Amino acid sequence: MNILAIESSCDDTAAAVVRNGRTVLSSCVSSQIEMHRIYGGVVPELASRKHIESITGLTDLALEQSGLSKGQVDAVAVTYAPGLIGAVLVGVNFAKGAAMALGVPLIPVHHVRGHIAANYLTYPELEPPFVCLCVSGGTTAIVDVRFYTDMEVLGSTRDDAAGECFDKVARVLGIGYPGGAPMDALAHGGDDSRYELPRAHVQGAELDMSFSGLKTAALNLIHNAQQKGEELELPSFAASFGRAVSESLVPRVMEAAAERGYGKVAIAGGVAANSRIRADLQAACAGSGDRLYLPELRWCGDNAAMIGCQGYYEYLAGRRAGLELNAYATRDISLG
Ligand code: KG4
Repeated sequence: MNILAIESSCDDTAAAVVRNGRTVLSSCVSSQIEMHRIYGGVVPELASRKHIESITGLTDLALEQSGLSKGQVDAVAVTYAPGLIGAVLVGVNFAKGAAMALGVPLIPVHHVRGHIAANYLTYPELEPPFVCLCVSGGTTAIVDVRFYTDMEVLGSTRDDAAGECFDKVARVLGIGYPGGAPMDALAHGGDDSRYELPRAHVQGAELDMSFSGLKTAALNLIHNAQQKGEELELPSFAASFGRAVSESLVPRVMEAAAERGYGKVAIAGGVAANSRIRADLQAACAGSGDRLYLPELRWCGDNAAMIGCQGYYEYLAGRRAGLELNAYATRDISLG
């Protein structure tokens, strides 16, 4: 079954063709980063307009690169939640038109379910159940993936997402946007115990997380140093910060994994590219005996191949949408 997949939830326009959920025939991504960089963050209205400009050409390119004709597309899958509402709506409306014109079913896909599915693209043998740490610019959650389309959130952030935290701190340091990857690169060779940063605990909800205190502490440290005319040792600051984020995430996902007992741990989302978090998960799983799944870096950030993959399993579960399909800025992953 060939699925044409569309993704437009934030600042990447993406189209892909995926066969039977696991074989990527094509994957095209058009990043808007350059346009948003001068503002230091995504400007929603500009993002929506850029998606409109890019989406038709990008879909044609994905179809061309797949080697398939339009008649060989069996369904259209699209991210319909969560995300920037205007941006998601562009993809949803385009996908409705495409499905109607091609005369094929339309499949709505939850964006974070798509990120989780990136693991199936990297590991053809991986099947649920497993516990997955979902970390991106908008989401930080520990998810019990009981089945491809049956998920439960075991813990989530009470405030900022981990990616957002990386981005804000990097912006104040002036080291680039989005900030996660440059912070990660900067941390190499730094001393991760040089700066003291807090790890938050949510009393009574041990798997929940909080990053706003860490973000504020990091920003205060930077401002204090600036006011005193002191130079921060940047690699050590980035390493200390990366360690604090990782130590807020990894022990919790391991606790969830031990509690569920599936023996399988995965990670998903843009922040899943972080080398410190990947290394800490590797060490933790080596200790616990859990098998660890780390998606290839090209599938960690936003892309449409992951939507085509998850779309296949949603289709098998009977999920369909009509022209009444709406977009949602927020939506619980357990609802799909
Ligand atoms: O999944 P994604 O591409 O978009 C969302 O759905 O949010 O995630 C983007 C986030 C950004 O916050 C970015 O800074 C972060 O992922 N990110 C990283 C790294 N690469 C991207 N964070 C930490 N370390 C990285 N290597």
